[in-house]
Amino acid sequence: MNILKEKINVAIMGFGIVGSGVAQVLDMNADLVKAKVGRPVELKYILDVRDFPDSPYADKVVHDFAVIENDPDVDIVVETIGGAKIAYEFSKRALSAGKSLVTSNKELVAKHGYELLSIAKEKKVNYMFEASVGGGIPVLRPLMQCLSGNRVSEVCGILNGTTNFILTKMQREGLGFDEALKQAQALGYAEADPTADIQGHDACRKICILGTLAFGNHIYPEGISCEGITKITLDDMALAMAAGYKIKLVGRAIATEKGKVCAFVAPSLVPVSNALSTVDDVFNAITVRGNAVGEVMFYGPGAGSLPTASAVVGDVIDCAMHVEHRKGISWNDSAPERLESSDDLPFKWFVRTEKDSVPAVFAGKQPICCPDSPYNAYITDPMTAAQLTSAVGELAETAIRVFE
Ligand code: HSE
Repeated sequence: MNILKEKINVAIMGFGIVGSGVAQVLDMNADLVKAKVGRPVELKYILDVRDFPDSPYADKVVHDFAVIENDPDVDIVVETIGGAKIAYEFSKRALSAGKSLVTSNKELVAKHGYELLSIAKEKKVNYMFEASVGGGIPVLRPLMQCLSGNRVSEVCGILNGTTNFILTKMQREGLGFDEALKQAQALGYAEADPTADIQGHDACRKICILGTLAFGNHIYPEGISCEGITKITLDDMALAMAAGYKIKLVGRAIATEKGKVCAFVAPSLVPVSNALSTVDDVFNAITVRGNAVGEVMFYGPGAGSLPTASAVVGDVIDCAMHVEHRKGISWNDSAPERLESSDDLPFKWFVRTEKDSVPAVFAGKQPICCPDSPYNAYITDPMTAAQLTSAVGELAETAIRVFE
């Protein structure tokens, strides 16, 4: 990019919930953005397969990526297409064309971040992705910069707004899963295909990004265990609450005693005394434990158009202010031998049983009960997944980890 240019030009690829939010924030805060950057930051193109005749940005819509790729006046490309197919191809081409790239696309960063950062390094441009984790929450920069003097022992949190919204609605209102999901979709929280949310894949991509930044080697989603919220029932929630826990979908990346990293996503019983249990609705929270700072928590809206656009525009401003420098975001490629399976770490487990068929392992133990429930529940001593299966048989399939 040319430092003498009078203005910085931006192209947005993908004019959906996040992309349209980015256009809106650039517009409504144009004076503020200009003051920070020292020159105007203007939206030049919107790439989408659709036309938007009623949009104030209708005249900026193009359908051919080559228009952006070949325009030397485009300095920063915002990728809000999502997915890892066409977004991957366009991202590589945008970086290769010497344009800085900003994205909210966690799937792409989790799958191809190492490669895309390597291209950015070679081309001396920036690739930024603050919005890929935690929506509007500033967390990646604090982890990469402000906390970089720490040896991190764990980064964990509630990383998906849609599932947290669904669990909150079930817990508070007794709402059915399908109805809660519909509401999350109407509010623009869910992925285009919400299975990525409810089966935990979205949170998995995010814990991979956080774990990668915390521990230095790219953690790929297919290399870690991932479980969603589909097995959680209202009975589980009531019994968990009777024992002083809320059920949350939690992603964790832990430095293990063997000097490895264990990353996974799973529904978990969070004690009501833990601040994570108070994170409700679409909100997300991420806790980082470091050997100097102790524990810090980042909290805020984890999805939605303007909160996510807030993080994207922050990156756009950072790119625009670093036209002559590449910021040193990088990490090493994956090191599978450094990963430890969550199945091999001991956890306490919440096991729900029929009242009249309690496994021998719980004989003589006081059950967790709810007046109207046909079930009891028990919390085990710490054990691995295999030990749990040998203790309770197929009840292990519906058992839920306890977060400690
Ligand atoms: N579907 C995602 C969520 C969007 O619900 O958290 C934000 O990444």
